[in-house]
Amino acid sequence: MRRPLMAGNWKMHLTLDQAEALARGVASGLAAQAVSDQVEVVVCPPFVHLERVSRALAGSPVALGAQDLFWEDEGAYTGEVSGPQLVDLGCRYVIVGHSERRHVLGESNEAVRRKLEAALRHGVRPILCVGERIEERRAGRADATVANQVRTALAGLTPEQARQVVIAYEPVWAIGTGEHASGEEANRMAGLIRDQVGELFTAEVAEAVRILYGGSVKPANVAEFVSQPQVDGALVGGASLEAEGFVAMAAAAGGRQGGGEA
Ligand code: PGA
Repeated sequence: MRRPLMAGNWKMHLTLDQAEALARGVASGLAAQAVSDQVEVVVCPPFVHLERVSRALAGSPVALGAQDLFWEDEGAYTGEVSGPQLVDLGCRYVIVGHSERRHVLGESNEAVRRKLEAALRHGVRPILCVGERIEERRAGRADATVANQVRTALAGLTPEQARQVVIAYEPVWAIGTGEHASGEEANRMAGLIRDQVGELFTAEVAEAVRILYGGSVKPANVAEFVSQPQVDGALVGGASLEAEGFVAMAAAAGGRQGGGEA
């Protein structure tokens, strides 16, 4: 059984003090709800807040994640952050291929693949983001776009590596817009992603991989997504910046199914 995951992407928000307060709020809120056996919770602050947030989360079940990493381990790469540096800070997860990196910063499928490999090489679990743009959906190419993103990112991984990957289906048109896919469509796309994993690896790996939905998820609509059989949780941006709502969403995700092994 797949253990649900609720991940918060704080993007380029918050001051250091605000980030620490939010981390403490999430940790204490989660403890009060006593749902951490049923759901895994991850927060992804900006790089510059990782150390402070890591300390604020010490002793809590909330895992630390980063929003990106570079594919090389060390060297003259101004502005980049490596896998070993993330490990050093206590990161257990890293978002790879977020649509804002693909579309604002021009990250290619090949760059995403190299980053995914780098994360796995250092034992940091990647949260691989895939999703179509509105023009691709309108042209009937949503399925092909997402299948291609999944296949190019995972090509070359071993089945053992592939099962570590979390995949987030995030339609680009739903991110930060207030619009979202229907629960039914999120479920269909998650199923399509799972089928790609099954074709690339084995049916057993496909069953083990966790697939999240992301794109304007909030407390009022989270149940529509986490109740879907193919959807194992959510990647939340804007609504993860408020501790109480984020904890409520984690509880909703945890309520769907009993706590199994990740
Ligand atoms: P949003 O962002 O929840 O603000 O739409 C989701 C994401 O970018 O991961």
